[in-house]
Amino acid sequence: MPCPSRSDELVFFVNGRKVIERNADPEVTLLSFLRKNLRLTGTKYACGRGGCGACTVMVSKRDPTSQEIRHFSVTACLVPICSLYGAAVTTVEGVGSMKTRLHPVQERIAKSHGTQCGFCTPGMVMSMYTLLRNHPQPSEEQLLEALGGNLCRCTGYRPILASGKTFCLESNGCQQKGTGKCCLDLGENDSSGSESQICTELFVKEEFQPLDPTQELIFPPELLRMTENPEKRTLTFHGERVTWISPGTFKDLLELKAKHPEAPLILGNTSLGPAMRSKGCLYPILLSPARISELNVVSKTNDGLTIGAGCSLAQVKDILAERVSELPEEKTQTYRALLKHLKSLASQQIRNMASLGGHIISRHSYSDLNPILAVGNATLNLTSEEGTRRIPLSEHFLAGLASADLKPEEILESVYIPHSQKWEFVSAFRQAQCQQNALPDVNAGMRVLFKEGTDIIEDLSITYGGVGAATVSAHKSCQQLLGRQWDELMLDEACRRLLDEVSLPGWAPGGRVEFKRTLVVSFFFKFYLQVLQELKKLIKPFPVPNSRRYPEISDRFLSALEDFPGTVPQGVQRYQSVDSHQPLQDPVGRPVMHLSGLKHATGEAEFCDDIPMVDKELCMALVTSTRAYAKIISIDLSEALEIPGVVDVITAKDIPGTNGTEDDKLLAVDEVLCVGQIICAVVAETDVQAKRAIEKIKITYEELEPIIFTIEDAIKHNSFLCPEKKLEQGNIEEAFEKVDQIVEGEVHVGGQEHFYMETQRVLVIPKTEDKELDIYVSTQDPAHVQKTVSSTLNIPINRITCHVKRVGGGFGGKIGRPAVFGAIAAVGALKTGHPIRLVLDREDDMLITGGRHPLFGKYKVGFMNNGRIKALDIECFINGGCTLDDSELVTEFLILKLENAYKIRNLRFRGRACLTNLPSNTAFRGFGFPQGTLVTESCITAVAAKCGLPPEKIREKNMYRTVDKTIYKQAFNPESLIRCWNECLDASSFHNRRKQVEEFNKKNYWKKRGIAVIPMKFSVGFAATSYHQAAALVHIYTDGSVLVTHGGNELGQGIHTKMLQVASRELKIPMSHLHICETSTAMVPNTIATAASVGADINGKAVQNACQILLKRLEPIIKKNPEGTWEEWIEAAFEQRISLSATGYFRGYKAFMDWEKGEGDPFPYYVYGAACSEVEIDCLTGAHKKIRTDIVMDACCSLNPAIDIGQIEGAFIQGMGLYTTEELKYSPEGVLYSRGPDEYKIPTISDVPEEFNVSLLPSSQTPLTIYSSKGLGESGMFLGSSVFFAITDAMAAARKERDIAEDFTVKSPATPEWVRMACADRFTEMIPRDDPKTFKPWSITVA
Ligand SMILES: Cc1cc2nc3c(=O)[nH]c(=O)nc-3n(C[C@H](O)[C@H](O)[C@H](O)COP(=O)(O)OP(=O)(O)OC[C@H]3O[C@@H](n4cnc5c(N)ncnc54)[C@H](O)[C@@H]3O)c2cc1C
Ligand code: FES
Ligand code: FES
Repeated sequence: MPCPSRSDELVFFVNGRKVIERNADPEVTLLSFLRKNLRLTGTKYACGRGGCGACTVMVSKRDPTSQEIRHFSVTACLVPICSLYGAAVTTVEGVGSMKTRLHPVQERIAKSHGTQCGFCTPGMVMSMYTLLRNHPQPSEEQLLEALGGNLCRCTGYRPILASGKTFCLESNGCQQKGTGKCCLDLGENDSSGSESQICTELFVKEEFQPLDPTQELIFPPELLRMTENPEKRTLTFHGERVTWISPGTFKDLLELKAKHPEAPLILGNTSLGPAMRSKGCLYPILLSPARISELNVVSKTNDGLTIGAGCSLAQVKDILAERVSELPEEKTQTYRALLKHLKSLASQQIRNMASLGGHIISRHSYSDLNPILAVGNATLNLTSEEGTRRIPLSEHFLAGLASADLKPEEILESVYIPHSQKWEFVSAFRQAQCQQNALPDVNAGMRVLFKEGTDIIEDLSITYGGVGAATVSAHKSCQQLLGRQWDELMLDEACRRLLDEVSLPGWAPGGRVEFKRTLVVSFFFKFYLQVLQELKKLIKPFPVPNSRRYPEISDRFLSALEDFPGTVPQGVQRYQSVDSHQPLQDPVGRPVMHLSGLKHATGEAEFCDDIPMVDKELCMALVTSTRAYAKIISIDLSEALEIPGVVDVITAKDIPGTNGTEDDKLLAVDEVLCVGQIICAVVAETDVQAKRAIEKIKITYEELEPIIFTIEDAIKHNSFLCPEKKLEQGNIEEAFEKVDQIVEGEVHVGGQEHFYMETQRVLVIPKTEDKELDIYVSTQDPAHVQKTVSSTLNIPINRITCHVKRVGGGFGGKIGRPAVFGAIAAVGALKTGHPIRLVLDREDDMLITGGRHPLFGKYKVGFMNNGRIKALDIECFINGGCTLDDSELVTEFLILKLENAYKIRNLRFRGRACLTNLPSNTAFRGFGFPQGTLVTESCITAVAAKCGLPPEKIREKNMYRTVDKTIYKQAFNPESLIRCWNECLDASSFHNRRKQVEEFNKKNYWKKRGIAVIPMKFSVGFAATSYHQAAALVHIYTDGSVLVTHGGNELGQGIHTKMLQVASRELKIPMSHLHICETSTAMVPNTIATAASVGADINGKAVQNACQILLKRLEPIIKKNPEGTWEEWIEAAFEQRISLSATGYFRGYKAFMDWEKGEGDPFPYYVYGAACSEVEIDCLTGAHKKIRTDIVMDACCSLNPAIDIGQIEGAFIQGMGLYTTEELKYSPEGVLYSRGPDEYKIPTISDVPEEFNVSLLPSSQTPLTIYSSKGLGESGMFLGSSVFFAITDAMAAARKERDIAEDFTVKSPATPEWVRMACADRFTEMIPRDDPKTFKPWSITVA
């Protein structure tokens, strides 16, 4: 078995073309290879950990045993190129393109409006494409499973699913499917009668080209030949630091393992890969058994199943499913338990890659399969050169005891899983932050065997994951319960023993300690009930002598047994069609597809980091502080500078101009104010070298005091960023004296990470002349980047041009920060004279950039017994982090918007931004409103509870009804608010469903349902006049084509599409004549940030202005030749020396706010809306499922209903994330733990409500904006709180039944932990509680 020192050639195919790599480096991933070597940039980087699906591609391989070709999706960021020997890779570019032929998947996702920013789209396309390669007519469940690992931060997933459903067998094309009604039956879309009517179709399915599987790329014949005659030779690939050895025979593998016992076997790389990345583990030799068919053998015997360790988890799932269908139920208990977890373990992509052997050997404490395999008495077949042996997959193996483990030279060949038997029951349990694609907090495998015909326990095994460093067996407890009857007494004793044995210290890593303890017993209780049910079934054929021993389970308690199945969401989107007299060519008001939709879907849409490498380009990586508040004593760069490829390290000393501001420096100088503050930046030839150099920079610090992280501590230390903001009306003190009741409460709202799919990126290209710089940057505010770079480099603004083609999601996070990255990169460019590319890793992005402000609110509310609120006093504190950033503005907005939809005569709102040692928090969709208004709405709920009335009654009673003035004395008409509210109640059949929820709750003890309807009055715009302006530049060229440029940035919100709709209407030419290239500071100067929902409003007016100027100039020509064509008019205008270029300008709203007087007109208008959500919670685990959401939103005359509905849905789902799953965790030292998709859970496709309906309020008008439309970018965010209040409604029902105090401190997000612990019961009472003073917790709460 030779192991040559020269590398072999790595041969694989990409999109049908052969790739021969002569110097394949085992450390290079497929993602990097595609993007950098092959320049296939459709495949995106967004997390690098397999957790987001943005890099999904399809891999096709021929199975050496079955000879079948397997197509499977993988996350390219975890695939080492060396693993691809003999494989065919298909990327989004290989599926179809705008230049050749679009694939139906690409066409449909774009035309169904499934793309917004488009950054996730290639990954979505590839997941769907792979599904269709395997199942040309998939089921909806298969579709949901295929997309479960692909995150999208913009769309809210509904339109993506809608596009996928057009391929499904069940799909009938009617989007009202699932409601039981069809739009055709409702008379909707009926063009007779009224001039405009309600539509429910956002796309026309009939226009889609059919799927023709015969048109797909074939598996390369050369690879077929290769697999027919497989290479038995050992292949070796030498990289710079790592050698990859891939033997061709089992014998060679064993020999190599004996020779390199320390070398890991690399299969899916889903465990090794992330460890090498995050923990910096380096293995000089990797052994790849990918070509060893012996590891993929599956054999069935009469008593069990042996599965090769090399089988992927997806294959294991199929194998088990097949066995379950073949065998009697009693024999497949363990298999069914495994299948249950295999459905929710990771994503389809990861299951396709990860191997059974890798999963078992990794022995992650959270492993979903090991606890079940352990209780199911699985055994491991080990092989080495010495021979074979069997070891049990026992608790000792799982604990890593040397005596029970593999020897270094051994490999795991296969796993034997025995059948279960009669009177034996196996179950699996799991609780994660969300249902799909999330690592479990706690999981468990449980098995009991009864003495035949009795309920006497003969054997019992229970194993837990997530409650220690390894999977933990409760062996002792199980032994002590042998011989016991399966009854309540046993249950009680078992719980006590389990808690004793599976003990978790208060400081345990991962936190959530009390929750985990509770799950330990809650899971056992579920098991107890399940087994009891099964025993009952067995009683009939096997009457037990003393059958009264079986405790009766009342139907009310059976709800503990049901899990929440993944359900494919359904729903309807309603909007008003355009007036039937509107010319067909006029696109305004029609659901026009996003301009870049098709380019998103084919991967041709170019994002910042897709720009090809420029001559002499260098890469930059940032060095950040590891201390929260400290003096920098020294920075030693020497070792870093010695690393090959490293060119320079940029420090504050290199800045020729200003280094940010006194309080907010671009690069730290003498001290650091938070973990994650940027200290310096390494410039190197490659990003890999730059990142390696970072590790070598030695910084010494001296800790300073006081270090403040929490709002509580900031208040204690009087640590604030700005003065208090206050609004007051009426006489609050007096009013409190006259009310029937007063309630006081507290609300904690956690922060939120923007999690835009495209991390912060910038490319700075210095020009040779006049210190000019071109900056390509992913930002919402290019003018700010330009200005900051100018002051940093000390060169005039006119030398710097910022270009923004498109941004892969911003949500407020790309307003301020991109200027920092742009300026640091510009310093690097100036110093080195080279172009600099800076692409933040997801971890760094999350660490450095801050997000939504966490909030702590206190309220005191006085009200009459009928629910009328007479006085409300709210004080809010937000955690601003270590610099001011937008914190003062956020505080102001928070206070201005706090009243939401309610008219309360006596009010006092106060707000302050706390200065803490956390990364500075910043703008985020909704700008304080989503956090603050949660306090107001929680207060309403508390009043309702005290009055014994449903919360919706209190909401109705206190809502604005007539033309009125807000707390800051701005007049407004709430008519649309009331209409939204009433329509939402109607559309959701709220009152009926409220009764049904109550009925359900009476019948079910362990599951509770909750329903909530929330009104919204959201003020749009900036509260500063200078922000209400915009400019546009429209050029008409001599061929009649038109180039439109305006000051807004395309963030996915479809602003460019809307602008062209406006220009098309104004110039009366089809959109196909119009084009937008990019946003550029050279074309439109002094732009304002695209934010605050007014981007389309103000830029639309500017575009309109420019077009009107041009049309006015053309008027004489048109008059002279009215029958002429557009092209003829333009030609004539040019001949007559009429300027065909015009600047449009919009001088917008005069916003003003006098904080002294507490009066003003800060906002141009309001968006009104209402949302009703219904959920069901599992009181034993804290999990919830979203049953239904109905939203009614006042969009007035939508410019583009598809885009606007997309904004509403996307914002709603993002809001739902804020209020339910997105939890930022900080260490007591202020280090952000949650720095990737595995720890920070944004909603996935399976979080979309099972029924999700959105309606735009018809016949509504606003005079102030372009064509009477409204900006809907942010408002939907808050409506996500309807899910939160539905959850608290369900929790209140549980607490009422359990006789626990009605009120509880409101905490967002409503994580399973919070829900479970609030639904206290005998199990929560059982768990040991720790005195918080006695240990240092794993994490701290900063809100
Ligand atoms: C995004 C993501 C989400 C995930 N979610 C979950 C989840 O929800 N639940 C869960 O349980 N797990 C989850 N995982 C973990 C996943 O299950 C494991 O990473 C995976 O099963 C490991 O298999 P692999 O083939 O990729 O192992 P590799 O990374 O290739 O190898 C891992 C280790 O196993 C050893 N090894 C592999 N095969 C053999 C063999 N035959 N003999 C001896 N040693 C061997 C290797 O030497 C190596 O040390 C997730 C992982 C990712 C990346
Ligand atoms: S970038 Fe690969 S999964 Fe996120
Ligand atoms: S469209 Fe999915 S992340 Fe933007």
